[in-house]
Amino acid sequence: MAIKITGPTILRGEVEVSSSKNAILPILAGSLLSNDEVIINKVPDINDVDVILELIMDMGVKVEKKDNKLSIKCLGKINNPSYELVRQIRASFLVMGPLLAKQGIVKISLPGGCAIGTRPIDLHLKGFAALGADIQLSGGNVVAKAGELIGNHIYLDFPSVGATENIMMAATLAQGTSYIENAALEPEIVDLANFLNLMGAKITGAGSNVIKIEGVKELKGVNYTPIPDRIEAGTYMVATAATRGEVIIKNVIPEHLKAISAKLIESGTIIDEQDKQILVKGRNVVKPVYIKTLPYPGFPTDMQAQFMAYLCSAKGSSVITESVFENRFMHVPELLRMGAEIKTEGRTAIIKGIPTLTSANVKATDLRAGAALVLAGMVAEGESIINNSHHIYRGYENIINKLKNLGAHIE
Ligand code: EPZ
Repeated sequence: MAIKITGPTILRGEVEVSSSKNAILPILAGSLLSNDEVIINKVPDINDVDVILELIMDMGVKVEKKDNKLSIKCLGKINNPSYELVRQIRASFLVMGPLLAKQGIVKISLPGGCAIGTRPIDLHLKGFAALGADIQLSGGNVVAKAGELIGNHIYLDFPSVGATENIMMAATLAQGTSYIENAALEPEIVDLANFLNLMGAKITGAGSNVIKIEGVKELKGVNYTPIPDRIEAGTYMVATAATRGEVIIKNVIPEHLKAISAKLIESGTIIDEQDKQILVKGRNVVKPVYIKTLPYPGFPTDMQAQFMAYLCSAKGSSVITESVFENRFMHVPELLRMGAEIKTEGRTAIIKGIPTLTSANVKATDLRAGAALVLAGMVAEGESIINNSHHIYRGYENIINKLKNLGAHIE
């Protein structure tokens, strides 16, 4: 499947942000902790949600979807996640904590390397072991077993988002109290903690680097609406700035966008934060900036590729350092095909601004790289084709229509 874009475009109008992919995926896994019905509202129509729903249905969980409302109900014993489906999406690992806590054993295939790095699960497993689980690796699978999980102190070598989420979910049903130290601070962690607390969990400190979880006997059903997607919002903000347009991004939490807004303002873009929306006004001259991706509240790694595409037409050279993933410059060769002048050295990229990009036939290598190429295609003169566009549909609901409504020539 390919996307065709004819540029240059100036984006104008309003766009509504959907619910957060990276909040809803752990929340779907957390639903397995209860035997009551879990209702989730405003579920975005994106491929990653479809794959996780397929995974949990295959595990024997009842899933009903009506429009964008989901009903999830465990009907008894939950089977282990299927090898094939786990290979499709890394977020599958988030079912480990719930299964281990609820059934005392979980068997899952080890992660496949993904486009943006090896992405092990050693911190997840270290956390489960600290809660008393016995971890065995055999035949490409990992088996975690625990009669009863016992609360403990867990120190994360790196504030891993997934490890924080997985360990937090496992600890909700452990005996006694657990502390996750050097925990990730992302808003999606806070959203997951709010969801679990509404189910009867006792979690405090989410959003800080020490999360306390007091184990409880069981978790009840809940009716929940996840937070808006800050990376989708950021992507439309940067696309507006890159096309020198003027767009109101609706359904956002400005607090979650601080690092993105700060860097856009530093590069000369006008940002006007209102209550639940943000006005972005692109300026002709984009100033070069230095960016280093960091765990929240630092500049998000998931915005690195999009921002690089934007800085390709800055007046001067910018520097981007990717400190979270070891291989997240897959979009660089594709941007070079569009005339960009970028040099990478390890985890650092130097982007020499040029007047504009030229259209080309390029390919998406991962979700955010794909988004960066859509952005570049809207800036470039002429018709660009983006191949492997399935990556983009993993995390951007209705992106073709949302961009068409803003004036993009895209299909
Ligand atoms: C989450 O992935 C997000 N995905 C990613 O978004 C995001 O890029 C990432 O957090 C960082 O913000 C979801 O929430 C579904 P990590 P996750 O564990 O949990 C290393 C997108 O585009 N690490 O914080 O996998 C790892 O290799 C996606 O929406 C270990 O070494 O990220 C990486 O270098 C892409 N051992 C770093 O930590 C572990 O046990 C950050 O990974 C776990 C992670």
